[in-house]
Amino acid sequence: MRRPLVVGNWKMNGTCQSAVQLADAIVSGLPSECQVEVGVCPSYVFIPGVSERLAGSMVQLGGQNVADQDSGAFTGEVSAPMLKEFGCSLAIVGHSERRQVYGETDALIAARYQKAIEHGITPILCIGETLEEREAGDTFKVVDGQLQAVLGQAGIQSLGHAVIAYEPVWAIGTGRTATPEQAQEVHAHIRQQLVAQDPEVASNVRILYGGSVNADNASSLFSQEDIDGGLIGGASLKADSFLAIVQAAMENS
Ligand code: PGA
Repeated sequence: MRRPLVVGNWKMNGTCQSAVQLADAIVSGLPSECQVEVGVCPSYVFIPGVSERLAGSMVQLGGQNVADQDSGAFTGEVSAPMLKEFGCSLAIVGHSERRQVYGETDALIAARYQKAIEHGITPILCIGETLEEREAGDTFKVVDGQLQAVLGQAGIQSLGHAVIAYEPVWAIGTGRTATPEQAQEVHAHIRQQLVAQDPEVASNVRILYGGSVNADNASSLFSQEDIDGGLIGGASLKADSFLAIVQAAMENS
């Protein structure tokens, strides 16, 4: 049984005060018996404040990225040991905004992913195709390539310590969600590709869906067999909608 995971990606939004308030509202709004795992990824600078607020709660904390090095002259980077110091157990890697806006390559993403695992942080590896790639019929080719670029370096067993997030680029922040069937088709394909490499890893790894998930569409997405939760951007910035998404995951677990 895969335990669903719902993670909020707060991106570059808010203030320290609003981030702590949001964390507070999530912690107090969660049911005491919550069968799904929940995490939030604030901006790096808000992590210390949010970490204090989450202490003792079930909500996991994560970075929106993680350095491919432990320390040294790497201006602007934040390492896995630094994230750990503030209680982070998760790190998003390979988000399409990192790939597309900041030019992160598959090789760099693989190195970030490995560093996270080395330090006991669970990487959430994001993969997904652009609209042009989908329209050209290349969706499977693109996600396979992005996944293999990482597994080629880190090995299939690394997925025992990681989470995959399928995030079609055309669905991120656009309000245009993949239909549950479109998402399930790609999730099932990803899992099938992994079966060939290691059936046990394939059946245990969680594959989250991300891209315009909201309180209204979450349930139909999470009801799909191979969708094990979500990576939530815009709808994670309000406690009510994020908690409703968590509730949808609970009802479909
Ligand atoms: P969105 O973002 O929910 O705002 O589409 C998802 C993500 O980028 O992880």
